[in-house]
Order: sequence, then C-alpha cells, then structure tokens
Amino acid sequence: MRLDQFIATTSPLSRKEAKRAIHAGKVEVNGEFWKETGKHLPANAQVLLEGEQLILQGERYLMLNKPAGIVSATQDSEHPIALDLLPAELTEVARNLHIAGRLDADTTGLLLLTTDGKWSHKVTSPKRECPKTYRVNLSTPVLDSTINALEAGVVLHQDPKPTKPAQVKVLEPQLIELTISEGRYHQVKRMLAAAGNHVEALHRHSIGGIVLDSALQPGDYRELSEKEIASIG
Ligand code: URA
Repeated sequence: MRLDQFIATTSPLSRKEAKRAIHAGKVEVNGEFWKETGKHLPANAQVLLEGEQLILQGERYLMLNKPAGIVSATQDSEHPIALDLLPAELTEVARNLHIAGRLDADTTGLLLLTTDGKWSHKVTSPKRECPKTYRVNLSTPVLDSTINALEAGVVLHQDPKPTKPAQVKVLEPQLIELTISEGRYHQVKRMLAAAGNHVEALHRHSIGGIVLDSALQPGDYRELSEKEIASIG
C-alpha cells in the first residue's frame, strides 16, 4: 500500500492531510523519516505519525441497537442517520462502513454495519436466504388464518410473487415473532397487511446467528465477535 493511502486509512487524516504530514517530516517508517507520499510500504512496516504507531485494522463488523427515528442510510440531509450514532474516530477510519440490511426509520433493533462488502452481501442477498427474526406488535390479536397465511406465503400489494414461507411464534395475542429469509421493501409490514392485520411496532431481534445484545441500550453499538461474524455463512 502507498504511504499516503496507509495514513489516510489508519488515522483521522484525509489523503491530502496525509501527504502534507509526510512532506512535513512527521511520518517515520521502520525508524526512518519518509518524505515520498507515493512510496509503497514493505510488509509489516512500522509506521509512526508524530511518534504514534498506526495500525492497519482489518475489516470492521458492528451491531447497533437502532432507536426509532434513525434512518438506515449512510447519507441523509434531513434526518439523523445510523452512522451519526457511532464515534467520529470510527467512521473516519472505517470510511466504507455500510449497513448490511436496512430497517425502516420507525423500526428498532438489530442493525449490522461493516466495511466488508462480501459479508454484507451474504446477509442481504435473497439467494443466501439469511433468516431475520422480528418482534411484531399487532393492532389486533393474531388469528390462526393470519399465522397460516404467513407460514404458507402471502402475495404483497403490487408484487405478484408470493413471499417465501415464514416462521411464526405467538408470544402474546398481539405480539408475534416472525422469521423471514427475504428482504423486500417494507416486507414485514406488507406481509401483515396482506394477512389481515397491521403492524403497530417492529423490532429486529436477530439476523442469522447474531442476536441483538440485550446489554446494548438503544443507540449503543459494539464490535461483533469472531463467532458472530463467522455465523453468517
Ligand atoms: N420489514 C419492514 O416492514 N420494515 C423493516 O424495517 C424491516 C422489515
């Protein structure tokens, strides 16, 4: 990797600021000051910026407990976005952090963020059928006919292809756990509408083997464990 690129990736500096820092003699590589911005680093080089060692982190994988009112986007000029909830040091270093599986603004719960495009594809690609489990508060008690329809697959408004069979667990008369393996637009809300009920509140509990950490307050995040990352296959 080029020296200026390495510095822009591992420190809060932009590429332009990294170049300036190199020219200003603030960057040391394996004990020598380097002044050439485009020089390629040898493997396992020790790079210091103003005496502080810079470490190249691997890909990043986070879970966030998304509160209501936050938009699942990486840019929005009008509304607060999920990335606003993360510390600036993190979003500056992990610039290609993106959301793996969006939620509506009023949906709460498990949101995954990563820099790893291949991994997020495994979460979101319909071909992978990665299961997502939602807690769904309903406006009226759930009927057997609604459960049967959800489990068989329903036809959504303006979408002729029926949904894949879902799993339903009734927790309370007006609270169900619904597991789906697709990610169509507003899918859960539209499924319940098609099956004769209405979603009052929606919360994502898990994605594949990753369960929202109950220690995370709304708005909090943590890094995923190796085991959680590997559970998305
Ligand atoms: N289905 C919805 O309708 N909304 C979400 O946010 C997620 C799934």
